[in-house]
Amino acid sequence: MSKKMVSMTVNGRKVEEAVEPRTLLIHFLREKMNLTGSHIGCETSHCGACTVDLDGQSVKSCTVLAVQCDGSEVSTVEGLASAGVLHAVQEGFYREHGLQCGFCTPGMLMRASRLLQDNPDPTEADVRVGMSGNLCRCTGYQNIVKAVLHAARVLKQDRVAA
Ligand code: FES
Ligand code: FES
Repeated sequence: MSKKMVSMTVNGRKVEEAVEPRTLLIHFLREKMNLTGSHIGCETSHCGACTVDLDGQSVKSCTVLAVQCDGSEVSTVEGLASAGVLHAVQEGFYREHGLQCGFCTPGMLMRASRLLQDNPDPTEADVRVGMSGNLCRCTGYQNIVKAVLHAARVLKQDRVAA
């Protein structure tokens, strides 16, 4: 199949690559960009291990074609920390023990960061519903909810201090 040029901004860096039209965004990120934080946990769009931010929305990158992202802004877990300082959601998952095997974690972190941008002051129920597209086999979710609420508190303090 003939390849098509696709250009997008990934974690602030402009990239341009020739891809087959059938190439999924998750494979583009992992295999072409070597950004292997985003994972693949299913073939039916349920698990959310592949969740990235695409033009300001959480998307499951196993369900998007790379060619559909031409001209888009994509953020992955590798772009969350800034100058070596963890993002509040990363710090929250670390402090509250929101991960065990870590396979779901990149998707959870990307979803959590978008959730907190869309709803900066969520209730526990908001977090559970907002994270319901992301499956975890290890944690039982309890500490993930605590981690997201921890991050929400930290981000709120930062806003008050600013
Ligand atoms: S890999 Fe499971 S939803 Fe994308
Ligand atoms: S920490 Fe193992 S799947 Fe979530």
